Amino acid sequence: MTQRTTSAARARYGFDAPGIMLGLLFGGATMVLLGWAVVALTAGAARYLGMILMALGAIPLFFGLLMVLYAFAGKARTRDHILHLADLRDGDTVLDVGTGAGLLLVAAAKRNPRGTAIGIDLWSAKDLSNNAAATTLRNIAVEGVDDRAAVRTADARALPFPDAGFDRVLSLLCLHNIEDETDQRRACHEIARVLKPGGRIVIGDYVPTHRYAAAFADAGLHIVRSRPAFGIALSLMWIVVAERPADTRI
Ligand SMILES: C[S@@+](CC[C@H](N)C(=O)[O-])C[C@H]1O[C@@H](n2cnc3c(N)ncnc32)[C@H](O)[C@@H]1O
Repeated sequence: MTQRTTSAARARYGFDAPGIMLGLLFGGATMVLLGWAVVALTAGAARYLGMILMALGAIPLFFGLLMVLYAFAGKARTRDHILHLADLRDGDTVLDVGTGAGLLLVAAAKRNPRGTAIGIDLWSAKDLSNNAAATTLRNIAVEGVDDRAAVRTADARALPFPDAGFDRVLSLLCLHNIEDETDQRRACHEIARVLKPGGRIVIGDYVPTHRYAAAFADAGLHIVRSRPAFGIALSLMWIVVAERPADTRI
């Protein structure tokens, strides 16, 4: 009985881009099966077409399976790695941009009992399954960090916070959703703007993070690293770490 109650009350962090994941899995599997049927049931040149269909179908199927692997194993590993790189100090104020169900937000709050953590999001349903402030609030309550974690509805391109208010700004799989390059740069500048002198940014995304790094450098930050973390995420992942020099005058 106790065990059932505990598992029912587990935090859930959802599937990223669920529509794309299902499309890749079902589209790829359908092509592989069709190709296989053509190879099995026909002779001559048609068999080569079947083989080509199988090979083409294997590509989306592979990427769909990578997304499943990320959801079940890579996500938690990436969260832990980002928190490790963030090097939180007790009492830090943390912002999680595009928090979704609160993956980084809750982890930051758990590791920082005397600090505060705020997650902002637009709760886009196509970017994460069950994406809603209520899901995040539930996870915050289940993990017992409601005294120091909060959520706000806000856009990364216009953060509703004063300059230099956060010791750490974290983000995972959010910024690629801002497709317009100028808007993406604006979001990076916003993230830099709210960072305190001596503060640190850690951002993970499934696309190369060099563009984010360039925007942070442009905003006066020091780039500590911007490189792949495939082995950690078990999927496509790049992570950029940037710092605002402690002697920066705001
Ligand atoms: C793939 S989900 C990742 C959620 C969470 N960071 C995680 O790793 O589990 C991307 C999140 O970014 C949010 N998002 C997309 N564009 C945004 C924007 N311009 N401002 C704030 N959040 C945004 C989406 O609503 C979604 O919750």
